[in-house]
Amino acid sequence: MSQEDDKVFLRNFSMIIIMLVVFTIAMALVGNHFNNVLAPAENPSRQANLEKRIQSPASVNTGAQPQAPAQVAATPAADAAPEADIDGAKVYQNACMACHASGAAGAPKLDAASWTERLPKGEEELVNNAINGIGAMPPKGGQMQLSDAEILAAVQYMLAQL
Ligand code: HEC
Repeated sequence: MSQEDDKVFLRNFSMIIIMLVVFTIAMALVGNHFNNVLAPAENPSRQANLEKRIQSPASVNTGAQPQAPAQVAATPAADAAPEADIDGAKVYQNACMACHASGAAGAPKLDAASWTERLPKGEEELVNNAINGIGAMPPKGGQMQLSDAEILAAVQYMLAQL
């Protein structure tokens, strides 16, 4: 290999390097151009999360019954209707489960067989008896601070488990 050959090789090789550098810069500029020209694609889950974050807290359902706030407002406050924020399951767990889960003192458990003779009385009568007490069951299960609506919600919860 002569010195002349080395020079030719070096010249050609630098040309290739320079062309690659120019090509890289050109691609970067083209990419940047299109990035600015085209609108970014909207991310649907980002939009959904954003709407969730800014929604009014009043529309968050904390109760057992799924009820939109508009419906709550539209329903006149009927005496016996359970209020939206009463959770029958909670009332049951706090005030009723002690007897009704075990069947203590002859309390009907939450299985259909224990209620076949009681169900025909109708929900209203069952709720009244739970409020006023019946047999070995003290009025409101002994929790006099509970409202009638809370007892109603608890009974409805119990009957829903049968
Ligand atoms: C101290 C134990 C005890 C607690 C606490 C208790 N119960 Fe009872 N419950 C009974 C017993 C015992 C009976 C059966 C009474 C009977 O028929 O002689 C009964 C019966 C009932 C009945 C059927 C009434 C009917 O007319 O047949 C309902 C409804 C009821 N309970 C709801 C509740 C609810 C709701 C709570 C909680 C707020 C509750 N109970 C808490 C002992 C209890």
